[in-house]
Amino acid sequence: MARPVAFSLRRRLVGQLLALAAVLALVLSLAVRIGAERAAQATLDAVLGSAALALAEEMRAEEGGVVIDVQPATFSMLAAMGEERIFYRVDIGGQTVTGYGDLPLPEGLPTTLAPVFYTVPFRDARIRVAAVARSLRVEGRASPVLVLLGQTREGQGAIAARLGWQAAALGLAVFLVAIPLALLVARSLTAPIDRLAEAVGRRGPRDLRPVRDPAPRELLPFVTALNSFIGRLRGTLSQTETFIAEAAHHIRTPLAVMRNEAELALRQSGEEATRARLRGLIRSADDAARSAGQLLDHATVLYRADQADWARLDLAEMVRAVAARLAPASEMKDIDLVLDIAPALPCEGDAVLIEAALRNILDNAIKYSPPDTVVEITARIEGETALVRISDRGRGLGGAAPERLLRRFRRGDNVGDVTGSGLGLTIVEQAASAMGGSFRLRAREGGGACAEFCLPLV
Ligand SMILES: Nc1ncnc2c1ncn2[C@@H]1O[C@H](COP(=O)(O)OP(=O)(O)OP(=O)(O)O)[C@@H](O)[C@H]1O
Ligand SMILES: [Mg+2]
Repeated sequence: MARPVAFSLRRRLVGQLLALAAVLALVLSLAVRIGAERAAQATLDAVLGSAALALAEEMRAEEGGVVIDVQPATFSMLAAMGEERIFYRVDIGGQTVTGYGDLPLPEGLPTTLAPVFYTVPFRDARIRVAAVARSLRVEGRASPVLVLLGQTREGQGAIAARLGWQAAALGLAVFLVAIPLALLVARSLTAPIDRLAEAVGRRGPRDLRPVRDPAPRELLPFVTALNSFIGRLRGTLSQTETFIAEAAHHIRTPLAVMRNEAELALRQSGEEATRARLRGLIRSADDAARSAGQLLDHATVLYRADQADWARLDLAEMVRAVAARLAPASEMKDIDLVLDIAPALPCEGDAVLIEAALRNILDNAIKYSPPDTVVEITARIEGETALVRISDRGRGLGGAAPERLLRRFRRGDNVGDVTGSGLGLTIVEQAASAMGGSFRLRAREGGGACAEFCLPLV
């Protein structure tokens, strides 16, 4: 049956982790880029500012004017920062005395010697300007002096672009590292689900014990629901078992009464036609009682197989007990039960299941054998298993495929007038496979049938 798959948790998790990693990588590369640009700007500003300060300091008033004694060191400091164009402007008392008179002024004039920085467009370029103010005594009067020193920042742009690429590469590297990590995280998160599914899937088809495998807290509601479902199923099964047991009882008791009455009537009746009718009645009552018994056995086997409540027991002892139980039936037909049984065969299983299986196999061997024959029962260790082999010299399987005879209510064509319901071998097979064993029926060389029942040894 195709199961509708809504989505894959693992895939969704990997997708979300990767999206998160992508956002983080982007933020990281942006942060690195902005931080680096700011740092570069601050360094360049510091150099520009000290050059502007040096320029302002180098001014002195002399008779008849102001002398600016520009030291080469002042501008070589700026040249060291890269090939940039430099503009300056010096205003004294509001008048430009030298430099570019159109160099834009800062929005707020600097008041102390600390430079003010600003960026403005100037002559087809964006320039960074440092403005420094001081006052100078010219001709006995204090005059405000404003020194502007501007510098293009093409070098900084190139550095920023390079840093940008490096930051992007860093982000990409972070993202690439995140891919295997995301896969690993998703796998480790979904591993408990896989383990639980495997544990439940590994169970036998009849294993209805509650799921007790360790599960993560988030899966507990699911496991609880599953266990309650299993519990309801067990409840239904045991109800069915009770129903069949009661039904078998309610059928068998009146059948026994009917059989007794018919036998009594048979003894008293002298009329042959009536006697034949009564014999038919007794036979039908036997058939019905046997079917009810087998149905009950079958239900019990199904129920017990579900319980899977195994105990340690000795298969050899059980074979001896079943042989003893069926000895009267074999004696009635003068059939010899020849036993060859190992002293002990320790196995793990359910005594009721094993008893039902052995009884049905031996019952068939006796039932389908003619009088005065021998049924051999051997039980011994073979490899890892305890093997019970029951061989008869009866009518054989009549060419029927043994696996077909194992089906429910399936009887062979060679049964003749032997009564039966066709459930015996089904019971045997189900009991064997529930306990991890196996059952095989085959025609025996030289006539008859051979049934083999195996259980794993402890
Ligand atoms: N030892 C045997 N010799 C010959 N045929 C057998 C033997 N055991 C089983 N069979 C064949 O397999 C069929 C199925 O056996 P199974 O025990 O399931 O049913 P049954 O004996 O007919 O009825 P019941 O449920 O009463 O045992 C039988 O009807 C018979 O044809
Ligand atoms: Mg049978």
